[in-house]
Amino acid sequence: MINRELTDKKVFDIDINIKIDEFVSFYLKIVNRSLNHLGRHSENTAIVCNLLAKRMNFKCSELKLLKYGSLLHDIGKLFVPAEILNSSRLLSVVEFDIIKTHTSFGYEALDDFVSFPKDIKYFALKHHYRNGFGYPKNLLYNNGTDPLLVDILTVADSFSAIMEPRTYKNNVNTLKSYEIMSDETNDKNKGLNKEVMDSLKYLIDNKKISLNSFFN
Ligand SMILES: [Fe+2]
Ligand SMILES: [Fe+2]
Repeated sequence: MINRELTDKKVFDIDINIKIDEFVSFYLKIVNRSLNHLGRHSENTAIVCNLLAKRMNFKCSELKLLKYGSLLHDIGKLFVPAEILNSSRLLSVVEFDIIKTHTSFGYEALDDFVSFPKDIKYFALKHHYRNGFGYPKNLLYNNGTDPLLVDILTVADSFSAIMEPRTYKNNVNTLKSYEIMSDETNDKNKGLNKEVMDSLKYLIDNKKISLNSFFN
């Protein structure tokens, strides 16, 4: 007969730590299965972040933070109804406000993982912030996370989203995507970091980013 007391003790003595690598691949498996564009978008954003950060001379530890942060930046979208996320029609203001909550929900969800670096949680919270423009409102620009890393993620996120096809739009080439983001008359582009945008232009001009790396 099994001694339940002993088995119980053994189970609860095990120190269960979730490694971030394991968590990221678990998350990508879920989104690749249920919200296909979100998995691809997360991976594309990670590729562009990596290219930008290397171009801007960031070192290994920052590249790692950006890798995990970019792969998880939209995790809060799991809390947004799929019919809104996958809608091909124009969204109402209320529906768009629901989508905007993905930043704080993402932060709160990641904050449950005490061993994950704070920076990664702030990337989820701030990737639509754009130096005071965007959302959520009233965040501190510098809360311990290097603001330039957040700015890299913000640019990479927008650039990837513009390039990628959606149910309501076709894919857009690299130069055209950059031009759309450079249009300062569009409120969506306010607050994008100039230095990061210059690095993006360098990568495009020197053919370091191509559509093939995204959609093949
Ligand atoms: Fe987002
Ligand atoms: Fe995103």
